[in-house]
Amino acid sequence: MLFAHRKKLELGVVVFELTDACNQACKFCYNHFKGEGVCTVEAPNYRLARRTLKRLLGEARIGSLSLSGGEPMLLPHIHDLVLRGRMAGSNVNVLTNGTLLTDDDIAIFNDLGVGTLQIPMLADSAEVHDSITQLPGSWLRATTAARKVAQTKAGWLTPVLILSRLNYGSIESTMRMYAEMGCSYIMVNRFNIGGLGKVYAEELTLTHDELRSAFRRVDAMAAELGMTIHSGVCTPMCLLDPKEYPHIMFTNCSTDLSSRPLTINYRGDVRFCNHSPRVLGNIYNESLRSIIERSASDGYFDSVPDSCVGCKLWQRCRGGCRAASEQMYGTFDRIDPVMSTTN
Ligand SMILES: C[S@@+](CC[C@H](N)C(=O)[O-])C[C@H]1O[C@@H](n2cnc3c(N)ncnc32)[C@H](O)[C@@H]1O
Ligand code: SF4
Ligand code: SF4
Repeated sequence: MLFAHRKKLELGVVVFELTDACNQACKFCYNHFKGEGVCTVEAPNYRLARRTLKRLLGEARIGSLSLSGGEPMLLPHIHDLVLRGRMAGSNVNVLTNGTLLTDDDIAIFNDLGVGTLQIPMLADSAEVHDSITQLPGSWLRATTAARKVAQTKAGWLTPVLILSRLNYGSIESTMRMYAEMGCSYIMVNRFNIGGLGKVYAEELTLTHDELRSAFRRVDAMAAELGMTIHSGVCTPMCLLDPKEYPHIMFTNCSTDLSSRPLTINYRGDVRFCNHSPRVLGNIYNESLRSIIERSASDGYFDSVPDSCVGCKLWQRCRGGCRAASEQMYGTFDRIDPVMSTTN
């Protein structure tokens, strides 16, 4: 028994997508199966999600397990899945749009020791937030639940801000709203193209100057409000130079499959990350170890985009988010598509 335990894979971070279904249709949503004409989404399938999670936890010891989707709160008995993760020794985080989160859910997640609840609040005004989520009433429901999470335990709520043209005007007031809720750790993602975001790209996309200005404003607010900011979408360093934003921690995207955050969905499909549409394998057909080893050695992730050849920042930057390149161009070989938007 002990021997079998030792042989388990050790994974630092896994995003487990419990369902593809969602009650919102956020204009920026990267879920790769959304977009023009490809919208047949299966209803939440709790039994399959549970079976897949059991299989996954039987094969790997996972340091941090993020339950995502689609909208994870659409799953009945999501608490049992959290419990499974906790009993397997994982720190479990829940990524939710907050609109379906009840007082009972919050109390149970607290009892189960959920690490963080990550809730996007896209503006301090209902009008702006709801126009992005395309669900009337979503701002009121999300912010009400978020306040309860924040009041339950200091530092438990992680607000998420997705920067786009649609909320560019309200960065400061939205960050003040987070501070007023008592939050000091915030996730700030630039809009990363993919999924439904491809349909709304024109409405959402900021120019390079605007993007740099948005990050400068986030950085200044972080200093003023004493916040720690995590930028969760890797970005070409020739576009956003981390040195210019000292209060923001930037994600770097490694292509080492054994140490990077992998994404696995409720059907058992394994992907490079949540933004990538490409399935590396399925854990019902092949062991996770074999999927990782085979994918790491097939050369797919080794290419250097033409524009990055010789760049001294390559080892850290890796050309930005090339899962977005897969979504836009169908290949990992090209530089992040954010580089082809206007200055
Ligand atoms: C796909 S959602 C799934 C979980 C849940 N439905 C939610 O919205 O929180 C996971 C996270 O990705 C963020 N996200 C979605 N699309 C994005 C995009 N195109 N660029 C950056 N972040 C994005 C969401 O705001 C959310 O914080
Ligand atoms: S970002 Fe989350 S809430 Fe919004 S459409 Fe995507 S899965 Fe649903
Ligand atoms: S590696 Fe490529 S994307 Fe990154 S800074 Fe260099 S040229 Fe820019």
